Amino acid sequence: MSTDELAGVHPAWLPPRAFRAIAARRVAVHGTGPLADTVREEAVRAGATLAEDAELVFKLTGDRAPLGDEGFAISRAGGVTLVLADAPAGLLHGFFHVVRLGEAAFTGERPVERHVPAMRRRMLDHWDNLDVHPVMGQVERGYSGGSIFWEAGAQRDLARVRAYARLLAATGINAVAINNVNVHRAEAHLLTDRVGEVAAVAAAFRPYGIRVHLSVSFASPVVLGGLPTADPLDPAVRAWWAETTWRVYEAIPDFGGYVVKADSEGQPGPFGYGRSHADGANLLAEALEPFGGVVHWRAFVYNHRQDWRDRSTDRARAAYDHFAPLDGQFRDNAILQVKYGPIDFQTREPISPVIAAMPATNVAVELQVTQEYTGQQRHACYLGPMWSEVLRFPLAGHVTVAGLAEELVAVSNVGDDPYWTGHPLAQANLYAFGRLAWEPSLDPLSILDEWVDLTLGPDVDREALHGILDDSWRTYESYTAPLGVGFMVRPGHHYGPDVDGYEYTPWGTYHFADRDGVGVDRTRATGTGFTGQYPKPWSDVYESVERCPDELLLFFHHVPYGHVLHNGATVIQHIYDTHFAGAERVEEMRRLWDRLDGQVDPALFERVRERLDEQVRSAAEWRDQINTYFHRKSGVPDAKGRRIY
Ligand code: GCU
Repeated sequence: MSTDELAGVHPAWLPPRAFRAIAARRVAVHGTGPLADTVREEAVRAGATLAEDAELVFKLTGDRAPLGDEGFAISRAGGVTLVLADAPAGLLHGFFHVVRLGEAAFTGERPVERHVPAMRRRMLDHWDNLDVHPVMGQVERGYSGGSIFWEAGAQRDLARVRAYARLLAATGINAVAINNVNVHRAEAHLLTDRVGEVAAVAAAFRPYGIRVHLSVSFASPVVLGGLPTADPLDPAVRAWWAETTWRVYEAIPDFGGYVVKADSEGQPGPFGYGRSHADGANLLAEALEPFGGVVHWRAFVYNHRQDWRDRSTDRARAAYDHFAPLDGQFRDNAILQVKYGPIDFQTREPISPVIAAMPATNVAVELQVTQEYTGQQRHACYLGPMWSEVLRFPLAGHVTVAGLAEELVAVSNVGDDPYWTGHPLAQANLYAFGRLAWEPSLDPLSILDEWVDLTLGPDVDREALHGILDDSWRTYESYTAPLGVGFMVRPGHHYGPDVDGYEYTPWGTYHFADRDGVGVDRTRATGTGFTGQYPKPWSDVYESVERCPDELLLFFHHVPYGHVLHNGATVIQHIYDTHFAGAERVEEMRRLWDRLDGQVDPALFERVRERLDEQVRSAAEWRDQINTYFHRKSGVPDAKGRRIY
């Protein structure tokens, strides 16, 4: 079954139109094995004929370098377009590159161009549960309907997963963890008696070169194995993991490995046994090692039962404090998975200092494609520019985040929604994540163009789409929490404004607004000392109220409302100005979308229009609550005399 045959499901960036340049061509694929077969199937499906005297040739070099496991080289001479790879996965990535190029792949001569992925693993984490969770729904932080893997506790028909695999492969993604990092009771069994379901999903992903990973509970030996302990140094525990992992590989020979959230937000972990996180990660790494598997060990560990009165604990510090001292202690197949910012996927955060603090550890940087804190796929918010900023950030001397990270991982935004992602324009985020993970230096706006071309076709009003999406992340930032302060969302579901919603909770996410000022003092001089976790120059830049960039000012400093920013405005006036401007900009986005009427599928048009209406409403709500809150706190009037309630 193919994507276009899946009734009612949008073909996203692989509609038949995207293959037009390949249709009716003669194609040869030299190579054997499932991935080479997939390339042949894709060519035929595109409408090509398999022939010896081909004008599009896919060929293995028989080498293992320099293109590696997944890279390819493309060239064109004498009327033949040639895709070379050392391994079959490279042929598949080369095929989708040809799709992206379209006619250009078959015009004139092309010098040899090599494409090798920057990150060896480009991974999506699904936060899917088998059944509907009473608080979180089925997909935790999911805004696109139910899981594509399970329904009402049982495995679904996997036709959609096969279509999904194809979409992901076309972006360059090569690994998927299929269940929630918060592993509840039923999901724990995917490791043992329900591993057959994981094997079935792996079979759906395999033809597209994507490996399946599983989130597991650190307490599995107790919960599933009936052992009295899950202590990582206990021989019986080690034997249990070795045996269990061996069985997993019997069912799934190319199984990717485990993902673990330990000692975090109530999940069990090594601290319960007085052991370190290196002990915990190494336990699983050791079990996976004989089979070539890896463990992704999350660094999202902090005290979520903090007393808000306690000013000495700083959640931003937690990951570094826990993990930096362990650098060098992790096994080679353990990967420390670090959220890009020190708190939790906020619209604006500084880069996590952990990424530079672990030179002897494999580090994966974790992003959030699902828009938990960026409008929950009701707001149009193209995240490509944010991720690009993160990846290009020179955290350690000249070395960027992309250079420091071995891998890029992101929380998926996909569900069983007909558009895959709830908001049809949120497809662009999924697409951009895969492309940036393959090549972090790509221009996010060019990626957006690719997505538009493939998905909506070359004839739509591109200017209107760019007008809506290009700055949508900065627009979102402008009408929500100001200047990097973060967490002014409604507790629990995290949608919409609630300035003090988290201010007196145990979660460690405070803004400390009072009548005089706002922000968190994280300096070494007078605050929590978090700035000291950064290498130079950032430890000095962030420490200094003068040098700290405006957009992060309130993350690092508590300042009076009258403090003058680099942009010349006072903090309070900046808050008013950006909130009025942001909400206005959203109205403009809604007007721009009307220009697409008649150019895109009517149902898609309507879906986006509805979402933009909600974004207009929600942005006004944000503007009014934030402005009113700070007006009441500070007593400072808006210099432009606009309406504040
Ligand atoms: C956020 C999110 C949780 C999630 C957690 C995580 O806090 O709200 O739903 O479990 O991140 O990344 O583990």
